[in-house]
Amino acid sequence: MKVLIVGSGGREHALAASVAKSPRVDKIYCAPGNAGIGQIAECVPIGAMEFGKITAFAKERGIDLTIVGMDDPLVGGLVDEMEAAGLRVFGPTKSAAILEGSKAFSKDLMKKYKIPTAAYENFDDPKAALSYLETARMPVVLKADGLALGKGVLICNTLEEAREGVKTIMEDKKFGTAGNRMVVEEFMTGREVSVLSFVDGKTIQIMSSAQDHKRAQDGDQGLNTGGMGTFSPSPFYTEEVDAFCRSHIYQATVDAMAAEGRPFKGVIFFGLMLTEEGPRVLEYNARFGDPEAQVVLPRMKNDIIDVVEACIDGTLDKIDLQFEDNAAVCVVLASEGYPVSYEKGYLIKGLERFENTDGYYCFHAGTKQTEEGIVTNGGRVLGVTAKGADLKEAREHAYEAAEWVSFDNKYMRKDIGRAIDEA
Ligand code: AMP
Ligand code: GLY
Repeated sequence: MKVLIVGSGGREHALAASVAKSPRVDKIYCAPGNAGIGQIAECVPIGAMEFGKITAFAKERGIDLTIVGMDDPLVGGLVDEMEAAGLRVFGPTKSAAILEGSKAFSKDLMKKYKIPTAAYENFDDPKAALSYLETARMPVVLKADGLALGKGVLICNTLEEAREGVKTIMEDKKFGTAGNRMVVEEFMTGREVSVLSFVDGKTIQIMSSAQDHKRAQDGDQGLNTGGMGTFSPSPFYTEEVDAFCRSHIYQATVDAMAAEGRPFKGVIFFGLMLTEEGPRVLEYNARFGDPEAQVVLPRMKNDIIDVVEACIDGTLDKIDLQFEDNAAVCVVLASEGYPVSYEKGYLIKGLERFENTDGYYCFHAGTKQTEEGIVTNGGRVLGVTAKGADLKEAREHAYEAAEWVSFDNKYMRKDIGRAIDEA
């Protein structure tokens, strides 16, 4: 069969690598893809938001299955448009992707269906938000309602910071129309865990847990980024945590979406905080996490096509989802200066070492093929993933492999997976 993947990051490279392992697949296309994806798929120069062009391409080439990796096209309704054209697509429709597309929606959903999350209020009007904040307990968390590249969340320690935050989000519109509404949320403390799941509208199956490292610098200092590294599984995701989430969060979310007339098919990403009172939902995403996908997918034993098709067909209950009994760590190689300003266009050396090295992967994020070779083309450049028998071994392997690659400006965190030592 012919498969089209929509997106261009490390997540889509990890998806393409999983799809390429399926004996059922003859040909993979990716729109728009990147230099690494181009080694296993044919990249087509169509942007992820060019819905008309993607749909026309899928019809012309007789694509059997499209997998949408990114949030923007999902929230924008790419799946609806392709389905209307009679195509088979994996991912939530627009009415279900709102689970990620509107934080106010997801908070109201959790409240209505008693899914554990932080206390909150939604605001459409900055004046009302400001007067609420006068008596709110600090620290407080402000969230732009819509998609903001993972950057629309401000943690404010003082009333002064919170006032400034309302201005940033709702008045200066730093995150654009995402800031037309805003959620003000209680600040929680605890460890964070990412749990990805496959959903077919009624059944949910949980993948192996993972943990991201969102800050740019060691010791969780510096600015928030798209993610500087991950490990899987999380040793803090214990059987007790799993049991709690199965009883109160996972199926409850799927049932709530169905009850609202918004049946969810695709991947739900649960961003959880393990508080002293138990696990709480920090956020939902309507797609695989990035870089979470880069440590979770290489450990999945199933043929991804079987699982994805079961989600589309509503037969996920027939799938025996299995993960390898090992661990994986991903270290992101970024351009120095990310996420603020950085140079690109530097030649990347050493990539060939990953070819045919079992258990080691180099997923491309911001790269570009040029006549001189593959060059850096973004803030996050590569995700170097390695497996090991356990987390410590996987971490050693990942940092070893991170040295195989070189480019001017290369920057990485040195402490990805340090939390493993505290488990
Ligand atoms: P989100 O995009 O909603 O996951 O928020 C981004 C990051 O902000 C999370 O990964 C947390 O580190 C932090 N965060 C979000 N909500 C809260 C909260 N209620 N309390 C403490 N930290 C939070
Ligand atoms: N790694 C977090 C995300 O994909 O949103």
